[in-house]
Order: sequence, then C-alpha cells, then structure tokens
Amino acid sequence: MKAIVAHEYGGPEVLKYEEMPVPEPKENEILVRMIASGVNPADPLILNGEFAKEFGTHLPLILGYDMAGVVVKTGAKVTKLKVGNPVYAYLLWGGGWAEYCISNEGESAIKPKSLSFVDAASVPLTALTAWQALVDIGKIQAGQTVLIHGGSGGVGSFAIQIAKARGAHVIATASTANQDLLKQIGADIAIDYTKQKFEEIAHDVDLVLDPVGRDTLARSYGVVKKGGMVITIVSRCDEAELKKHGIRGAYLSSHPNAVELAEITNLIDAGKIKPVVSQVLPLTDAAKADVQAETHHTRGKIVLKIADEPKG
Ligand SMILES: NC(=O)c1ccc[n+]([C@@H]2O[C@H](COP(=O)([O-])OP(=O)(O)OC[C@H]3O[C@@H](n4cnc5c(N)ncnc54)[C@H](OP(=O)(O)O)[C@@H]3O)[C@@H](O)[C@H]2O)c1
Repeated sequence: MKAIVAHEYGGPEVLKYEEMPVPEPKENEILVRMIASGVNPADPLILNGEFAKEFGTHLPLILGYDMAGVVVKTGAKVTKLKVGNPVYAYLLWGGGWAEYCISNEGESAIKPKSLSFVDAASVPLTALTAWQALVDIGKIQAGQTVLIHGGSGGVGSFAIQIAKARGAHVIATASTANQDLLKQIGADIAIDYTKQKFEEIAHDVDLVLDPVGRDTLARSYGVVKKGGMVITIVSRCDEAELKKHGIRGAYLSSHPNAVELAEITNLIDAGKIKPVVSQVLPLTDAAKADVQAETHHTRGKIVLKIADEPKG
C-alpha cells in the first residue's frame, strides 16, 4: 500500500510517500481501506518527536489520527463490525495517512449516513475532544453559558455545535475572518479577539473551553462564575487563580471512544452538527497539510483524500 511515512522525527520534509506492507489485523482488530483522513495540530508535534516519550510513538511513523473508510477484514474476536461496513474513528495509534489502517471496535463507529467519507474524516478526534470536555468533564446543562475560545478551529467548531445541541448559550472567539463562521455554526455571541477583549463581553459564565492557552487561559479565570469551570486542552490551569476565583479547572487529554462517537453520529444525522471542512488535499500533499496544521489558524478542518468515495 502507499502511505506517508516518517523514518526520522523532524519537520514536514521527513514525510515520504512510499510503499509499505498492508498491516494485518490482530484477533480484536479490523483492517480498514481508507477513503480519507483528518489533519490535526498534534500531527506536527508528534512528527517532531515531542510526544515520543509521553505516548510511546516509534519510527517508522505513519501519522493520521482520524479515519473514514470501509472495513475489509476483521479479526476472529470482532463481533459487531463486519466486512463492508462504512466506519470512522479517532485512531489512538495513528496510521491513517495510508491506503489501509488498523482500528478496533473500541474506537470505530459506523460513519454518519448524511456525510461523505471526506467530511466524516474531519470529525472524530476534534468532535470527541469537544464532547469529552463539555459533556464528560464540564457536565454541560441546558441554559448554561459557555465561552468557547478558538471557535472556528477543529475543536471549537464542534464544541459550539455540541453546546448548542445541549441547550447552552454560547459565546465564542475567533479572528475577524471567522466571525461569519462562528455565527453560522450557532454561536449566540461572536467575539473578534483581534478587536475586543473577551472579558469585556463575557461575565459569569458557567464553563470555559480553552484550546488556545497562554494569555487566553490566564484571562479566562476572571469571567467564570463561582463554582464554574475552566477546561483546557493545551496547558494546565493555575491552581492559585482557580482558588482565588472560587472555580474549578481541568486539563483534558482526549481519547477514542466508539460509544461517544456513535452519539455524535446521531447528532450529525439529526442535522445538529455539521463539520466545517475548509481544505481537501490529496494524500501526496500531507506535508502541505502538516505545515497548515502548525499555524493554529485553520478554519474548521483539513482532510487528506486517499481514495474515491465508494459507490452506493
Ligand atoms: N488535549 C487534547 O486532547 C487535545 C485534543 C485536540 C486538540 N488539542 C489541541 O488544542 C488546540 C486546538 O486544536 P484545534 O484542532 O481546534 O486547532 P485549529 O484547528 O488549528 O484551530 C485553532 C483555532 O484557534 C483560533 N485562535 C488562534 N488564536 C486565538 C486566540 N488568541 N483567541 C481565540 N482564538 C484563537 C484560530 O482562529 P483564527 O484563525 O480566527 O485566529 C483557529 O480557528 C491545538 O493546540 C491542539 O493540539 C488538544
């Protein structure tokens, strides 16, 4: 099979398009013929070796933590998924930037009927991160006010829609060019962080989701009401600030979860969540996608298209 492979850690220049053996699924695994794979800001970090110790990544490395494709082989202990099933997943071990990849029933769910494989590939990692932050950790409730930073990005664009689907009032931040997008996907109040400080508008919020960090995180504690919560996915909360404001804080490291992904599928097929895909590139352009992911200014998601959409 063709794959994008790194034989050393480094920048986009270490990504090579080359022949690799098709992986063999173990008894509890499935082999998937890939149609598309999402791109994430974690890809350049993993590629440069930053996470090698923490996550045990090893060379040769095939990136790609989002997959959408068709099951072509199942291990003996696989019970629910069948050959021919259209699936999508957040791949814990990556491997999605290839013509075939390995997954399992703990991470793969049936793809939403209403989405193409390309659009489906944009969903799993970032939508699950938003879900686990707002629903699992934040226990978001209807009527609450949520501040979502980076609302135009991969995580933020799903977070806005999940929060709205749960009946929350949503304030979201992004730059000037993305104000229209924040409104389109349901933000009640859109703040242009290049023109206005969010703390001038957001007060007494129940939850903050912060995928930006640094100064944005530092200024977020003061807008949360007593007993409320700041959830960060990029850096740790400052305990002294949490105490000072009488609020709670949490850092989330997201993980694959087929059951939660199936709940997200239901919201997508009910028309409550629409992925925002700003760029579709061929697999051979993986290095270009990696450079864009590193900017932290992607609108919605970038997807690598690996094969044509299956007919029927
Ligand atoms: N811990 C975890 O499990 C986990 C999981 C997923 C992602 N992450 C991390 O979370 C971060 C976001 O991921 P992502 O996929 O959403 O990234 P992304 O697609 O690159 O989106 C980032 C968004 O942030 C916005 N932004 C940049 N600076 C901002 C600022 N000062 N204030 C408000 N918005 C700002 C950008 O909008 P403009 O272009 O309009 O500025 C962009 O749309 C990344 O660092 C990623 O590695 C962590």
